[in-house]
Amino acid sequence: MPLLEIEDLSVSFTTGDGEVNAVNGVNFSVDRQETLAIVGESGSGKSQTAFAIMGLLARNGRAAGSVRFDGTDLLKLSPRQLNKVRSREIGMIFQDPMTSLNPYLKVSDQMAEVLQLHEGMSKKQAIEESAKMLDAVKIPDARSRIGMYPHEFSGGMRQRIMIAMALLCRPRLLIADEPTTALDVTVQAQILQLLADIREEFGTAIILITHDLGIVADACDRTMVMYGGQIMEQASTEALFAKPTHPYTKGLLAAVPRLDKEDDELLTISGEPPDMSRLPQGCPFTPRCPYRRDECPTIKPPLEEFEPARWRSCHAPVPEVTS
Ligand SMILES: Nc1ncnc2c1ncn2[C@@H]1O[C@H](COP(=O)(O)OP(=O)(O)OP(=O)(O)O)[C@@H](O)[C@H]1O
Ligand SMILES: [Mg+2]
Repeated sequence: MPLLEIEDLSVSFTTGDGEVNAVNGVNFSVDRQETLAIVGESGSGKSQTAFAIMGLLARNGRAAGSVRFDGTDLLKLSPRQLNKVRSREIGMIFQDPMTSLNPYLKVSDQMAEVLQLHEGMSKKQAIEESAKMLDAVKIPDARSRIGMYPHEFSGGMRQRIMIAMALLCRPRLLIADEPTTALDVTVQAQILQLLADIREEFGTAIILITHDLGIVADACDRTMVMYGGQIMEQASTEALFAKPTHPYTKGLLAAVPRLDKEDDELLTISGEPPDMSRLPQGCPFTPRCPYRRDECPTIKPPLEEFEPARWRSCHAPVPEVTS
């Protein structure tokens, strides 16, 4: 049984302008200790998928389908039961550390509080454990710096503190939503390395959400590409990079800067992302797709396993180049 199994998950929001269909029937799973990347342009439904898993949708939002974590459907839990799973079994980190860190509390106090509340530790024990976790995420001189306030740390260090907070109760799944977007390239690479180390050391499965396909190549076992709230393609990261078969994946990859190709003109996919309150009946990528066929705007392509462990939802895949 996979650690996380998502079936037919949809998220919609009620707004003054009608229904926004942010996530539309996605199916995927995450194995124990696996790293899955969810990639796609802004607005493709990546964060709302994560928020639905965590039961953290905005008040005007609803989730349907099922989210089984270790066999239990999280969408059916009471707020109290869900809170327990959320604080101990699934950790989440965000792009901006200040969404999880309280600027007015010393790092020691906010970290210790988590352990006192959820693990019943004494304050002394909790601070000792917290310092160990700061060590594990490589905060230099953790024992003396734990008494500082969040603003006394650099952006990269704050991101490490947030990761340490999320790991305090040793969750089995860590969801990282754009954890490196606000950081410069060197610090980005360090945080990605840290996530890899965490998986090794703690055996945590990781969902890494990013709009930047460039950063998943080394960091993730499998990659899932989303567009218009749907899964376009899903495969091992290696296979996806070697041979993208969905026209959208191909476009995304062409937009990734590559060091091995000099003077390579950076390509972008022309056209605008879809209006999520007026999605076409068929494939949402149709208006921007260079390979589109007659049936694409009206008939939704099913997500099919077209090769072992490779899934795609497309009527008109990229033709294979034979030479
Ligand atoms: N509370 C809300 N009410 C209405 N629409 C919403 C709400 N929250 C999110 N949406 C819409 O849901 C869609 C998916 O949003 P989501 O945050 O999942 O995108 P994303 O893929 O994470 O993008 P980004 O890369 O910009 O973070 C967007 O069209 C967004 O405007
Ligand atoms: Mg997002």
